[in-house]
Amino acid sequence: MDYAATYANWLRDPEAYWAEAAEGIAWDRRWDHVFDPARGTFGQYFAGGRLNTCFNALDRHVDAGRGEQVALIWDSPLSGTVERFTYRALRHRTARVAGALARLGVRRGERVVIYMPMIPAAVVSMLACARLGAVHSVVFGGFAAAELAKRIEDAQPRAIIAASCGLEPGRVVAYKPMLDAAIELSAHKPDACLIYQRPQLRAELRPGRDHDFAEAETSAAPHEPVPIEATDPLYVLYTSGTTGKPKGVVRDAGGHAVALLTSMRMIYGLGAGDVFWTASDVGWVVGHSYIVYAPLLAGCTTILYEGKPVGTPDAGAFWRVCADHGVKVLFTAPTALRAIKQQDPQAALLARHDLSKLEALYLAGERCDPPTAIWAAETLRRPVVDHWWQTETGWPITAGFRGLGLFPSKPGAGGRPAPGYDVQVLDDAGQVLERGQSGNLAIRLPLPPGCAPTLWNDAAGFRRAYLADFPGWYRTGDAGVIDADGDVSVMGRTDDIINTAGHRLSTGAMEEVLAAHPDVAECAVIGARDALKGQVPVGLVVLKAGVARDPAEVAAELVALVRERIGPVASFKTAHIVARLPKTRSGKILRASLRRLADGEDPKPPPTIDDPAILDEVAATLQRAGLST
Ligand code: COA
Ligand code: AMP
Repeated sequence: MDYAATYANWLRDPEAYWAEAAEGIAWDRRWDHVFDPARGTFGQYFAGGRLNTCFNALDRHVDAGRGEQVALIWDSPLSGTVERFTYRALRHRTARVAGALARLGVRRGERVVIYMPMIPAAVVSMLACARLGAVHSVVFGGFAAAELAKRIEDAQPRAIIAASCGLEPGRVVAYKPMLDAAIELSAHKPDACLIYQRPQLRAELRPGRDHDFAEAETSAAPHEPVPIEATDPLYVLYTSGTTGKPKGVVRDAGGHAVALLTSMRMIYGLGAGDVFWTASDVGWVVGHSYIVYAPLLAGCTTILYEGKPVGTPDAGAFWRVCADHGVKVLFTAPTALRAIKQQDPQAALLARHDLSKLEALYLAGERCDPPTAIWAAETLRRPVVDHWWQTETGWPITAGFRGLGLFPSKPGAGGRPAPGYDVQVLDDAGQVLERGQSGNLAIRLPLPPGCAPTLWNDAAGFRRAYLADFPGWYRTGDAGVIDADGDVSVMGRTDDIINTAGHRLSTGAMEEVLAAHPDVAECAVIGARDALKGQVPVGLVVLKAGVARDPAEVAAELVALVRERIGPVASFKTAHIVARLPKTRSGKILRASLRRLADGEDPKPPPTIDDPAILDEVAATLQRAGLST
């Protein structure tokens, strides 16, 4: 069936559509209702159903006779290792780690924080939690102790799984001291920590609290999958909101399994035995969905890559991995392509590798600028598909659909809505705009299965953040336009979130850190355009009256402070000391105008502006620093 017919099918009878999709999952108990509008914040899927996601991702394939097929390939140029795990081997390890967690007292519904680099033990840990019915919460390794502490405090984990270290080019990142500091900072303390010792840097274990991961794994009895309610959480993934408090995005088990399995065939055109490589990190939603869960639910071989697009060892790294492992579809962020293009514009390194198995490239995580999309398509001579999604949705909102014969290839556009999503552009009053007009991208409720039903312990926050502004709609926080063909272009965020190298960051969180510096009176952090990372954060800071310090010295302290409190992933390298910030007459900093200025647009000062000259001053500062067009 083609895209139009499939989308029309869904629109005609969404419940029948999702009931049919759910047949691909093994259920311990079938659902009572495909969709129950009376439950949760906007309704819930597959209420009454019971399943185990780990069983569906591993055991089901072993039971079906594919136990010897490779499930996971770990390719780590940073440690010089390649390892392969069959479905049987991955199940064996996962069942034992689940047993080890159970022995530490972790029960169904309890949380386990996972703070790990891109190693197989991270995937095993996620699946082990799923096997037990425990709720994992993975924290990206580039976050500092204070950010980890916020997540520990909110998720209240019974146990934490961490590695002794991560590897970045040229440096070993010691994870354990950060974990210790985070636990120290957090009011909630876990009962136990499982520490995976990497040979590059071993960590000291605290007697009584810390346990060696490998020892615990080998000595534990394998644990059977524990069925949970389809509406129970499988995981919580914290993502940047508009303030320093991260949002705990909840993923419910049943809808997630159904949506992800459907997406593999429909969007990526992949099935059992195909090799899929998502070059992201398990700490992000893309890694959760398309390194771990979706490819395993579909019986594919997935690749876990511990390396970078450039420098490990060169800009041919991605092509080498595709060739070595016979990758059929590659998924990455545009920033990775920009990095490759910068170092190897003629793609000379590509010619050294046999990419005959590669059929398509998918991009997401940030807007793909047309020159990069065109370069990729001309270089690879294969479909390059930009697709748009968010941590909250868990799977693509818009895409190209290899499985349905639709490859939209308009550079700068993110494709058409996936069946399940009715995407429209709304004006600020919530009225649907005509095709071609820009505005707020919104999704008509209910959201499809797989999308977050709520925020962890914060249903009111979910309603406030996503449902309140436009009743009957989910507010995506993105601005964009839908053209006459129905292709959706996502232009950028409408709030205080920026995308740096495909990483979602909160400028509000950075402002909170800057404001805590004793010399800072007020500040704003904006996303300035960057040729490699898309956007980078830039701080504009007004010092307290009477502070007569060297501005460069204060700026360096502010840069160090953000790295220490949020982490290197913030990429906060620039702070400018300015005399004043543009404000309304009532004293509110005009962040929206600053945002437009940083985007190189006319900042459109609102009529309430106190002194329009200040915007010009800031524009001049940004221009002098080469940060604005
Ligand atoms: N643990 C510890 N530190 C980390 C880290 C991790 N897991 N990931 C990144 N960092 C550090 C980096 O070492 C860097 O530190 P530095 O300031 O000392 O150089 C800093 O965080 C910023 O990282 P990043 O923004 O990723 O920049 P980079 O210069 O290291 O790499 C790219 C640039 C483009 C190569 C890289 O960002 C990339 O591969 N991006 C793809 C992003 C992606 O896959 N996103 C997922 C969404 S689909
Ligand atoms: P995250 O929650 O980290 O996945 O980030 C989600 C945000 O990234 C979205 O709200 C968008 O702003 C941006 N984004 C993701 N994919 C795309 C895309 N294909 N095009 C434009 N922006 C994107």
